[in-house]
Amino acid sequence: MNPLLQKLQPYPFERLRTLLGGSAPPPGLPVIDLSIGEPKHATPTLVTTALASSLGTLSSYPKTAGTDELRGTIAAWLATRYGLKCVDAATQVLPVCGSREALFSFAQACLDPGGDASVVIPTPGYQIYEGAALMAGARPLFVAITPESGFRMPLDRIREEQWRRVRLVYTCSPGNPTGYVMRPDEWRVLFGLSDRYGFVVASDECYSEIYSDERNPPLGGLQASDQLGRKDFERLVVFGSLSKRSNAPGLRSGFVAGDAGLLAAFLKYRTYHGSAMSPGVQAASVAAWRDETHVIDNRRRYAEKFAAVTSSIAAVLPTSAPDAGFYLWARTPGDDCAYARRLFEQGGVIVLPGSFLGRPVDGVNPGAGFVRIALVADLPEVREAARRIVQCGRTDQSNATAARDAHALSSK
Ligand SMILES: Cc1ncc(COP(=O)(O)O)c(C=O)c1O
Repeated sequence: MNPLLQKLQPYPFERLRTLLGGSAPPPGLPVIDLSIGEPKHATPTLVTTALASSLGTLSSYPKTAGTDELRGTIAAWLATRYGLKCVDAATQVLPVCGSREALFSFAQACLDPGGDASVVIPTPGYQIYEGAALMAGARPLFVAITPESGFRMPLDRIREEQWRRVRLVYTCSPGNPTGYVMRPDEWRVLFGLSDRYGFVVASDECYSEIYSDERNPPLGGLQASDQLGRKDFERLVVFGSLSKRSNAPGLRSGFVAGDAGLLAAFLKYRTYHGSAMSPGVQAASVAAWRDETHVIDNRRRYAEKFAAVTSSIAAVLPTSAPDAGFYLWARTPGDDCAYARRLFEQGGVIVLPGSFLGRPVDGVNPGAGFVRIALVADLPEVREAARRIVQCGRTDQSNATAARDAHALSSK
C-alpha cells in the first residue's frame, strides 16, 4: 500500500476515545458530549422535503460539475452574501460532497508530487489539511495559532527560504477551534505573499454562517480579494458547506469557488476521482442555499447558548465568545488531557483536549492547555454542561487551595 498512509495521524476523536477508555462518568449522570463539531439542531424540512421528492432522479448519473441550477444558485448566494458583482457559475463554482473531501482532494490536484512542496497549515486546526498535504507528498509547515498572536496566522514567522517552497496555504476563517475571523489586513498580506511566491490559497469557510451579529457577518476570502481590487480571485479557492449552515452534515454538500483556472484543473481531477454529487442531494442543496430564514434561526440559537454559558464557563476556564463559529476555546487548569478526563469522571461532560488538535511548532504544541467546547447540544443541555464544568472547576480550585495550604504547613 501507499507508504504515505503510514504518516497519517489518528483522528482526534479516536484519541479521545482512548483517553476516556478506562474512565466512567458518575453513576446515573447522563453524559453530555460537547466534543464533536456536529450540529444537533434539526435539518430544516425544506431540505428533507426536497431530498425526498427527488428520489426519481436516481436513475441517471450526475455530472461532476453539478447541474447549472445548483452552480447558479451557489453563485447567486455568494454574490449576495459577499457583495460580489459577478461570480461566474460556469467557471468559478463547483459543487463538492462536503467541504472535507474537497479540502483533501484539492491538495492532490494542486500539488506536484515530484516537487519539494511545503503546505502552510494553521495549528491547532482541522486535521484534514495535514492529511491532504502528506498524501500529496508535500511537507506540512505548521504555524501556531495562539492567544499571544491574537489567534492570527503568524505568517511573519515563515522565513524567505521556507516561503520559496510553499505551494499551498490553508486558512480557516472563522477558525476551528478558535472562531477567529481573518481581518482585511491579513488577507492583504497573504495575497501579497501569494503574488510574490506563487502559492495557492485554500480558504476553509465552513463556519462562515454561524455568527452572532446579523449586521456583521464574517469577511470571506472572495470578498477580501474583491475588496482589495484583485482580478478573478487569482490563486484563491474558498470552500463552503451546508453542514453547519443548514444543520445537514449527513447531506454531504458544499462548494468550492474562486480562480477559474484552478477549478478547471480540479474538475478534471474530480471527474477521475468520481466525486459527483447525487441528484437528490443537488436538489436539496438548491433548496437550502435559497433560504436564509432557517440560517438566521440557527444563528439565534447559537447566540442564545453563548449568551447563557460563556461568562460562567469563563470563571473557571478562561475563555471569551468567539468572533464566529460554535466553539468555546478555553484554557484549562494544567494539562488539557488530564482536565478532559477529570471533567468526564466528575461531571460526565466530554470536551476535546486542545493538544489533540495541535502539532508542535518549535517543540511546543499550541493546542496544549486548552479544550474545545462545542455548543452543539440544545440550550438546556448546554446549560447543564456549563453547570457541571463550573462545579468541576470549583473542586479543582478548592483542591489547589488545600494542596497549597498543606505545602505551606509542611514547609513551616
Ligand atoms: C474547519 C472545518 N472544515 C471543514 C469541515 C468539514 O465539513 P463538511 O465536510 O461537513 O462540509 C469541518 C467539519 O467539522 C471543519 O471543522
